Parts: sequence; structure tokens; C-alpha cells
Amino acid sequence: MRRGLVIGNWKMNINWHSAIALVDGIVADMPAVNADLVVCPPYLYIPEVSARITDTRLICGSQNIAAHAEGAYTGEISGSMLREFDCKYAIVGHSEHRKYYADDNVVVAKRYRQAIASGIVPILSTGDSLAQRKQGTTFEVVAKQIEDVIDIAGIDSFHHAVISYEPLWAIGTGRTATGEQAQEVLEFIRRLIDSKSPEIAEKIQILYGGSVKPENAKNLLAMPDIDGVLVGGASLDTDSFLKIYSSFQN
Ligand code: PGA
Repeated sequence: MRRGLVIGNWKMNINWHSAIALVDGIVADMPAVNADLVVCPPYLYIPEVSARITDTRLICGSQNIAAHAEGAYTGEISGSMLREFDCKYAIVGHSEHRKYYADDNVVVAKRYRQAIASGIVPILSTGDSLAQRKQGTTFEVVAKQIEDVIDIAGIDSFHHAVISYEPLWAIGTGRTATGEQAQEVLEFIRRLIDSKSPEIAEKIQILYGGSVKPENAKNLLAMPDIDGVLVGGASLDTDSFLKIYSSFQN
């Protein structure tokens, strides 16, 4: 049985004051659910968030990680820096980063590799565009996003990784994939991993992301291959975020 996982990606939202209120609210009301709950604040807020969640069940992650260990990479944050502030997870290859900063599969793989080298669990983000879905190339696109990482980091690294599928047409659009649409792709991802390592396929957590809300979380989490969700907009509200987390209960 794989453990459930809910990741809150705050993206570049909320000010300092609201960030503190949000994290304190989550900790105060966090129900006893047998799943892990992670928040990924903007880098600047990570030290404060980490300090506030020490000795709680809430976990801190980051929205990205540098592709290099150290050096002249202006604006980047390394895995060892994230570790200093107790970040346990790092999202790599989010579609917004692929789109606005031109991260290709190779750069994503290097970020992923740095996470592994730093003892941080990478959340390898994959996804198709609406055009790709219409062309019927969803599986091909997602397979390439994963295989390019396997080529560079090796399949064994997936013992310590999470994969998420976040269709671009569902992110921030209010248009969620149905449980069946998400399941179809997540099952495909698990089969792809199974073809390289049945052991990893059995245990790797695979998440769905894209307009996850309290109203649709239960249905998504009921699917056999959906081990958790990556939440953007709804993670900025304590109540919505905790309702999504509570969807694991029954
Ligand atoms: P959203 O973001 O929940 O706001 O659609 C999800 C994501 O970025 O994967």
C-alpha cells in the first residue's frame, strides 16, 4: 500500500503576513490523516515556514532546485541550501518553469539529479498541452519527459522520487481532468516504470495535479494509481487545502 501525499504549491502568491497565517492555520487544524502533507512556499519564505513547522507533521518542500551543486548561477538555489532549511521535497519540471524559463527535459533531469544528490525527493512534473492531447500524443510526451530523466539520472534514482502528471490544460483553468482521464495517464506512467523496474513501479508515489479542489479530490484519490495530488490555487486557503488532505479518510 503506497502512502498518500498532498503537495501544496503556492507558486508566486501571497505576502509574508498571509504566508505565516496560512502555515500556522494548517498546523493548527491538520487532521490525523494517514498521508503526508507538504507545502512549497516561495524560496524567501522557506526559512520561516521551516522554523514554524519543526516538530509538526507538516513538511516543507521547494518549488524548484538548481541544476548545479554550487557556483555562478545567479538567481538559483542549490539542493544543499534547501537542505539547510529542512526541505524534504523539490518540484522539478513544473510546466510553468518549462514554459516561461525554457527548461527542457535535460535541464529538468539535471535539477532532478541535484535533488537526489542532496537527499531531497524530486517531484518530477510531467504534463501534456491541450494541442498534444487533441493530437493523441499525450502518452508519447509524458513518456519522453520521464525517459529523458531516466537516461541522465538512472532508474534506481526513482526509489527516492515522486512523479506527478499535471496536464497544462487543467492547471489554473478550473478544468480538472476526470478521475478516469487522470487514471489513464497515471496507469501508463506506472506501466512505463514497471517495464524498467517492477519493484519501483509498485512503490513509487504518482500524483495528479490541475485544478484540484475539495469537490473533486475524493473522486481523484479513489483511482487506483493516483497516490496523491499536487494542488496550486486551492493550497492557498487553509480550509480548502485541509479538506483536500482529509479526502484520504474514507
Ligand atoms: P492549480 O495548479 O491547482 O492552481 O491548477 C496545479 C499545478 O500547478 O499543478
